[in-house]
Parts: sequence; C-alpha cells; structure tokens
Amino acid sequence: MGKEHVQRHVLIIGTDIDRSIGMNRRDFIKTCGTVAVASFLDASFFSNVLANQEGFLKLYNKALLIKEDGSPITEKDILPHKEYLFFYPFTSTPCFLLNLGEEVKGVEVKLSDGKTYLWKGGVGSKKSIVAYSAICSHQWSYPTKEYAFINYYPPDKPSGTTKKAGVIQCCAHLSVFDPKAGGKVLEGPAELPLASVVLEEDGGKLFAVGILGKDQFDAFFENYKTDLRKQYGSSAKAKELVDKCIVLEVEKYVKETIRC
Ligand code: FES
Repeated sequence: MGKEHVQRHVLIIGTDIDRSIGMNRRDFIKTCGTVAVASFLDASFFSNVLANQEGFLKLYNKALLIKEDGSPITEKDILPHKEYLFFYPFTSTPCFLLNLGEEVKGVEVKLSDGKTYLWKGGVGSKKSIVAYSAICSHQWSYPTKEYAFINYYPPDKPSGTTKKAGVIQCCAHLSVFDPKAGGKVLEGPAELPLASVVLEEDGGKLFAVGILGKDQFDAFFENYKTDLRKQYGSSAKAKELVDKCIVLEVEKYVKETIRC
C-alpha cells in the first residue's frame, strides 16, 4: 500500500459534517481528529453519525465526473438503468455509476459481524443516482478491458441463473448485490456488501468524494499486481489518486460483458 494511500485511510466523518463546519476538505483532513470535530457539533448528532460510520468512510480526492470530451457529466447524461464505469479513487479501481430510475432511500447496512454503517441513498433531483466499487467483494472479480463478470442487470433484463433483476451480479461465483440498499449481499458466497462511492452534487456537477464500506483495494492491488503493472506501467501508477473521472458506458471500456 502506497504512502498516500495510507495517509488518506484515516478515520474521518461524513461530508455533510465537513460542509457544516465550513472548512476546506484537505484542511479538515489534515487538522481535525474526530475528537476535535466533536466540539463543533451537537453531541448527540455527532455520536449517532460517528457510531455508524466509524472506520467505514474514507475520503479521497474530490473528483469531478466528466464525459469523454472533458465536460462535466450532468444528471441527464446518466440514462436510467444503463451501466457506466469510472475509475475512483485510484486510477485502476473501477466503479459503477447507475441511475436506478427512481428515488433510492438511504439504509443502514449491516455486516455479518453486527457492525453497521449508514448509506445515504441516491443523489440527483430524483435521488436515483448511485455508485459502487465494481470490485466484487467475494474474490475481487472486476471489469477489465477484455471482459466483465460483474455487471448490473436492469429490471427488464433479469439474470438467467438467479432470475434477479435490478441487481449487480458477479458471474464468477454468483454473488448478487442490491444497488438500492447500499450494495448489500442478496445471494451467493460474498459476505461483504459492495463498497459504495460517496457522491456529491455541486452546481449541477457530480463529484466522487470517498468510499463507504469495506473496500477491497488492498486485496485487489495484491492479487492483480502483475496485470496492473502491465496495464499501467507500474504499481505506483495503478495506485495514483484521481481528481477527475471519465464516465464511460460499460461497452465502451469492456469488450465482452459476461452475463449469466
Ligand atoms: S468473485 Fe464475484 S462472486 Fe466470487
């Protein structure tokens, strides 16, 4: 794990709190421990949020989501139930961007060890836009340029094997995740939900600002280091943090999407 990666894996709290105290994000990360922040906030609010997010939220660069031509992507560019990919927080770590076509409410995501965290639901005018890490939490299958075993199945195109629709399914070992419920596991061998990407809207633009949940980045970098070195030139380059993310329809990045 790179030094920068370690530095940014500090415990910090939600973006709403960041905004509420009117601080620059980097200054906030640099200067505030969680105890120091507590003094700015109502104690019960602080303890409720922190109790649920502790250790699960990692803020990275605030990265603008853009189209291929470099202009910011807007809500209307994200078509309902289409599968889009972008890379965040590292140059090599793929994520799904999905417009689920209806309001997606926040939920408490529960892990098998009983710990929970709060997933805030969709963003956008309809609160229908969500984003998740596209690295399967089971054994890290992910979309490469050649193929993608893990994909979104729209409501009108259910999986042939699990018969589920409106889900993210990984055909490597048939784990099924619910994008309307913080990525929770619906079926299969995966034990952990998909990590979600924390999105923010600002002046009609969309930004990725962090990762919520148990990310799989360390295992991903370790397992695929040979492939990543080949594709990106070095492990360090594969681990570079991004500050802009090009959003692509999955078919524009992956030659073959494997659906099952
Ligand atoms: S790697 Fe995705 S289900 Fe096993």
